[in-house]
Amino acid sequence: MSEQGLQRAVDKMTDAELPPATIEVFRHYYRALAEGATGRVAEDEIAPVTDLPLLTEQQVEESVARDALAKTVMIRLNGGLGTSMGITKAKSLLPVADGRSFLDLIVAQVQAARAQHGVRLPLLLMNSFRTREDTLDALAAYPDLAVDGLPLDFVQSSEPKLRADDLTPVEWPEDPELEWCPPGHGDIYPSLLGAGLLDELIDKGFRYALVANSDNLGATPDPLLAGWFASTGAPFAIEVCARTKADRKGGHLAVRRSDDRLILREVAQTAEEDMDAFTDENRHRWFSTNSLWWDLEQVRDVLVERDGVLGLPLIRNAKTVDPSDPSSPEVIQIETAMGAAIEVFEGATAIGVPRTRFLPVKTTNDLLLLRSDAYEVDDAGAVALVAEQACLVDLDPAFYKRLADFDERFPDGVPSLRDAERLVVRGSWTFGPDVTVRGAVDLADPGDPAQIEPGAELAGS
Ligand code: UTP
Repeated sequence: MSEQGLQRAVDKMTDAELPPATIEVFRHYYRALAEGATGRVAEDEIAPVTDLPLLTEQQVEESVARDALAKTVMIRLNGGLGTSMGITKAKSLLPVADGRSFLDLIVAQVQAARAQHGVRLPLLLMNSFRTREDTLDALAAYPDLAVDGLPLDFVQSSEPKLRADDLTPVEWPEDPELEWCPPGHGDIYPSLLGAGLLDELIDKGFRYALVANSDNLGATPDPLLAGWFASTGAPFAIEVCARTKADRKGGHLAVRRSDDRLILREVAQTAEEDMDAFTDENRHRWFSTNSLWWDLEQVRDVLVERDGVLGLPLIRNAKTVDPSDPSSPEVIQIETAMGAAIEVFEGATAIGVPRTRFLPVKTTNDLLLLRSDAYEVDDAGAVALVAEQACLVDLDPAFYKRLADFDERFPDGVPSLRDAERLVVRGSWTFGPDVTVRGAVDLADPGDPAQIEPGAELAGS
């Protein structure tokens, strides 16, 4: 049955005129899926990471750091749709601060670094077929952004979503575009190679890349990091942050005993009996921020040698064909994650960075906090927490999980959270303008939809 499913998926990709290399990569991961590959990593196969360089302890001469940044390109992943927040276009176009979007702030960060250090620093976005048009429209506001004749983006490949019951390509005549998905950010390797961009960048004198999520405003082009990475001579490095209790469920960095290589282990790769060790943040102390540093030449050499197929652990992403319609058919999206490539590159390394380099927006809870006055944006587009502590936000998923529902309940802007410690909201509350939250505030479910009056001060313990 699955061979037939594979053939139908391949036919569909061929009909859509996808490049043969893309189809080969898909074939590889489809087989892994059909064989039930889990990418399991047992606790006794790995050792915790003990000695790790820390960014705060690095000293790099200013001229060395600047030279490294002068050879760096900034790549941002922009192909995802933020479906967990019910978004159907690029998440990076959402306004986050003073009406400016993630993309506006990333551009500001790049332009500030160019001006401050006198570097070219190209910005290159990885779009998907779903995010490209809107993103390029938004970038038209920055006519000076492109440098050295380089494009502003490249498009990652796409693959058929598969029916969860028999792994054949799903059909959805109501909206055939929804039959396709981007194959996760691990697709950056074959897509960059296929676009010929690694060669072009290297020919134009670039040597390093900082590759990061477009919804992580903490991943700024830091010359110290560039200088550190250049000094290691490593092909690949990953920025990691110290795990806290709140990060227990996410993946972690570890050393594979068999070959001493660094690997990332995700929850889906962990057996039940190893979950205690997996979630022990004192044992496995570091998690990946998904910000990578590449030596472009070394990365290209490995990719060429392997025809772009890195054999990364597979992620079986179960969704519905129409993410906004839970009753539509269940599908599997075959995905890979780009950070998992750390185990492929001999000599790959990692660096511990402060939490300020990891500001992800995965949920509307994160979005509320980022849009509030707890954060401020400086002239260089850098976002910093100005509150003494980040308020813990927990909004009722039934009324705030999807962006459209969230926006409806904060029609006049979000409350002040600078002096807030916690905001827990149950039920459907709509917030008037100029609301202030202080201390720990829990709003109980009012039963019927209710209103927080304009200018209200909510003060808790
Ligand atoms: P995540 O995997 O965390 O996904 O992407 P997400 O965008 O937050 O969305 P959902 O809610 O799971 O759907 C991390 C980064 O990788 C990009 C995203 O745009 C985001 O910047 N990405 C993800 C891609 O560029 N391509 C993909 O195929 C998947």
